[in-house]
Amino acid sequence: MATNYYTGIRSVILSTGSYLPNKVLTNKDLEAMVDTTDEWIFQRSGIRERCIAGDDETTGNMAIAAAKKALEAAGLTGSDIDGVIVATTTPDRTFPAVAVKVQAALDIPVGIAFDVQAVCTGFVYAMSVADNFIRLGQAKRVLVIGAEKMSSILNWEDRGTCVLFGDGAGAIIMEADESGDGSIADRGIHSTHLYANGQQRDLLYTDGGPSTTGKAGCIVMQGREVFKYAVQYMADVVEEALEENNITSADVDWLVPHQANIRIIEATAKKLGLSMDKVIVTVEKHGNTSAASIPLALDEAVQDGRIKKSDLLLIEGMGGGLTWGSALVRF
Ligand code: ACO
Repeated sequence: MATNYYTGIRSVILSTGSYLPNKVLTNKDLEAMVDTTDEWIFQRSGIRERCIAGDDETTGNMAIAAAKKALEAAGLTGSDIDGVIVATTTPDRTFPAVAVKVQAALDIPVGIAFDVQAVCTGFVYAMSVADNFIRLGQAKRVLVIGAEKMSSILNWEDRGTCVLFGDGAGAIIMEADESGDGSIADRGIHSTHLYANGQQRDLLYTDGGPSTTGKAGCIVMQGREVFKYAVQYMADVVEEALEENNITSADVDWLVPHQANIRIIEATAKKLGLSMDKVIVTVEKHGNTSAASIPLALDEAVQDGRIKKSDLLLIEGMGGGLTWGSALVRF
């Protein structure tokens, strides 16, 4: 599904924020837990370490911490926000949504607050939903968060999955902006493309849930199959974003991909003809934080000065469902 028509309003990203737990679990630490090696993990995935949340670091608490940073960076308070959308697969409770916890903690006035579940593509989906509210004039400023405690749904005896994931949260504030002229020079979101193929839902799933086992379950993944589709879908969805906006990869300042595997990221960059110094990579330090990975990567690159105002960002993600999508944004 594509969204790239101009309503006279664009959703501009005002600010970013993030939160990572203090506890770092290295590949070396994992060597003592399962039959694996630092070399295997790094060669196959590009991951060296990941952050693991403590008991009081719930998805909701991490989301609140990231959102506070984004509010501070924009010079705003909760009262300036009129909607909260949280992308997560690992909510504090089955219901209510993590978003209402964030809303209450930050004194955000009564308005929309809900979670989006599209696994690792969740943040791209959430951005797109917020963008639609904003472009239709139904919201002025939306807090969009990706937050995950993936460590809580890992089977710590399955070396094929437990070495790949980490915890954390990232947030952005999106604001309605009517100053543009409809051209690619406008700041804000220019397009989103979202997809899901439910025929592939058994390639990556949790072996539980409220209406089946009554427990959240753990991640089960056919890694090699997921890898194959990830490379194909990522390449297709970024090409589509460029074509529909009548631009080439030379116009893109930064590729901000979902951080699942460095080999998938490199394949996408190669397909685009982008050198790796135009790609934001955090997978080595964060592992795969699912819906949190894109806003975490975005915030890191904004904080260290790589991503600057008016840079053109190509954001893409892919995950369980299978789901995948992209967003083209002038920051
Ligand atoms: N340490 C050592 N050996 C291992 C480990 C480990 N941690 N895990 C698996 N192996 C072994 C396997 O048992 C297998 O051994 P065998 O050949 O004797 O059977 C061998 O290594 C190769 O296993 P593969 O799974 O084929 O390895 P592959 O090269 O495909 O890499 C990986 C695995 C890293 C999981 C890769 O397939 C991948 O990244 N897949 C995509 C993940 C992804 O993008 N997920 C999407 C988002 S996640 C979400 O939505 C929640």
